[in-house]
Amino acid sequence: MRTFVIAANWKMYKTPHEAKRFVMEFLPLITRSLHRRIMIFPTALCLPTMLEVTKDHNLDIGAQNCHFQAEGAFTGENSPKTIADLGARAVLVGHSERRALFGETDSYLAQKVKAVQDFGMSPMLCVGESLAERDAGQTEAVIEKQLREGLSKADLQGRLIIAYEPVWAIGTGKVATPDQAEKAHKYLRSVLHELAGENVATQTSILYGGSVKPNNAAEIGSQLNIDGFLVGGASLEPKDFATIVNVSIK
Ligand code: 13P
Repeated sequence: MRTFVIAANWKMYKTPHEAKRFVMEFLPLITRSLHRRIMIFPTALCLPTMLEVTKDHNLDIGAQNCHFQAEGAFTGENSPKTIADLGARAVLVGHSERRALFGETDSYLAQKVKAVQDFGMSPMLCVGESLAERDAGQTEAVIEKQLREGLSKADLQGRLIIAYEPVWAIGTGKVATPDQAEKAHKYLRSVLHELAGENVATQTSILYGGSVKPNNAAEIGSQLNIDGFLVGGASLEPKDFATIVNVSIK
């Protein structure tokens, strides 16, 4: 059985104080469920606070990005070794904002996926097509390339989470239809099957991201190959994120 994962990507929002306040308001709002993993990806500077305030709770904290080297002369970067040492459990790799705004390529991201695994954490590899690519009928080709190349250095039997985030649905309020999302997820699972075999394909959680809100989460999450969400805007409000968590029981 795959774990249903509900993940918050806070992007460059929230100070440590605001992050702490979020956790205090959020925790009492969530109902218990065994097969559910809740993750929050705050900014790197909020990691120590978030790890401290969530340490007695069933909540995993991850980083939004890291370098692929453990250490070195890389001014301003965050090391996966440091992130793991703090106690983080996962790192987002290849979010579309990293690809589009910071020029991260598939081969560069492959090194990060490996580094995150090497330090015992789960990479959450993000893939997704632009609107122009979808309109040109290239969705499957684009996400397949991102998945294959992003995983080219990975331990395919190791820790891994995939997030499908169509670029045109991120922060736009335009959510993929359950059908569009399910089709992409099913395809990604078939590529995983080719790459790593049946076991990995059936066990790997593939999350959907892109304008997930309290009012559309249940329908999207009910699709067979959708194993959770990566939520941006709606994860910034404790009530909204708790509602998404609470309607997400498969
Ligand atoms: P929104 O939920 O704001 O569309 O953002 C999605 C996202 O980028 C999560 O990583």
